[in-house]
Amino acid sequence: MDLPLDNKNQLESLLDGYSLKELKSIASNIIEQYKYNSYKGDDLINSLLVSKVYAVYRLPATYSAFTDALKHTLELYKDNIDSIIDVGAGSGSASIAVSHLLPNIKSYTLLERNKYMIEVGKSLHNFNYINYDLSLDNLDIKADLVLSNYVLNELDHNSRINAINKMWNMTNKLILIVEPGTPEGFNLIREIRDYLISIGGHIISPCPHNGICLNTWCHFSNRVSRSKLHKDIKGGDAPYEDEKYSYIAISKGEVTPCKTRILRHPQINPGYINLEVCTKEGIKHIKYSKKDKELFKKARKSNAGDMI
Ligand SMILES: C[S@@+](CC[C@H](N)C(=O)[O-])C[C@H]1O[C@@H](n2cnc3c(N)ncnc32)[C@H](O)[C@@H]1O
Repeated sequence: MDLPLDNKNQLESLLDGYSLKELKSIASNIIEQYKYNSYKGDDLINSLLVSKVYAVYRLPATYSAFTDALKHTLELYKDNIDSIIDVGAGSGSASIAVSHLLPNIKSYTLLERNKYMIEVGKSLHNFNYINYDLSLDNLDIKADLVLSNYVLNELDHNSRINAINKMWNMTNKLILIVEPGTPEGFNLIREIRDYLISIGGHIISPCPHNGICLNTWCHFSNRVSRSKLHKDIKGGDAPYEDEKYSYIAISKGEVTPCKTRILRHPQINPGYINLEVCTKEGIKHIKYSKKDKELFKKARKSNAGDMI
């Protein structure tokens, strides 16, 4: 789902008055930095302008990935959610997504160590920030939903396990973790999944079971439209980008997970549809023929990531 136009206009106005040449050069520098320096724990955003450019070219994509993951989680998780903690909140894309899908949340706490990210976030929304380093600081706070969106891949291995324990201790009910949909991002999600199950967590989404995951690369994709400014600063003229993400939603209480989750975009052929799905018994290939009427109709309208 795209970031609503009002939010997008507010976001892009952050770059009013700067030269396009400067913005382009900053964007290409951040893209390089993220390519080579993730997974090391470095702080990559080192000025307010860098933080603004980063928000303009990344926030619409991280917003849409988180929206998708949360939507799929809420299809299965029906308990009330009153409060959230957004860990490594950056300029707040995931919290903005939560506010759109769960408008009755009473309390938002955004934890972030980078002062430039916080400054940009404060110009986009009114949520409460706490200056917090996930690797160094401890905080005695709790919320129903504790989330992180594209954060844990920025930590080194030891800090990551520590961070997951902190998130688990902070939650009253569930945690939702979204990472890039790369093979590395998925491996990270699988490690987190195994660890949280081993300490008593219950899968909400996307998996249909709490057993061993035999998937080699479980990821989903979301199409995000690109504005003129986005094309100007990031380059290329495709009207959209496909944002790949992997995620895991885990609850402290028992939840009934889905029976069948679609893993790849349905292959639609004349008279039949092929689906690759994950089930309790493992990965399967299902064929629905036109004769299966209702199921065929449902499969034709579905996307990777949906339950069926
Ligand atoms: C890729 S950005 C994602 C930001 C935001 N969650 C989003 O979805 O747009 C990663 C964020 O994690 C923050 N971060 C990285 N390591 C952190 C740490 N040790 N403690 C707190 N925040 C951290 C960074 O400062 C940055 O804001």
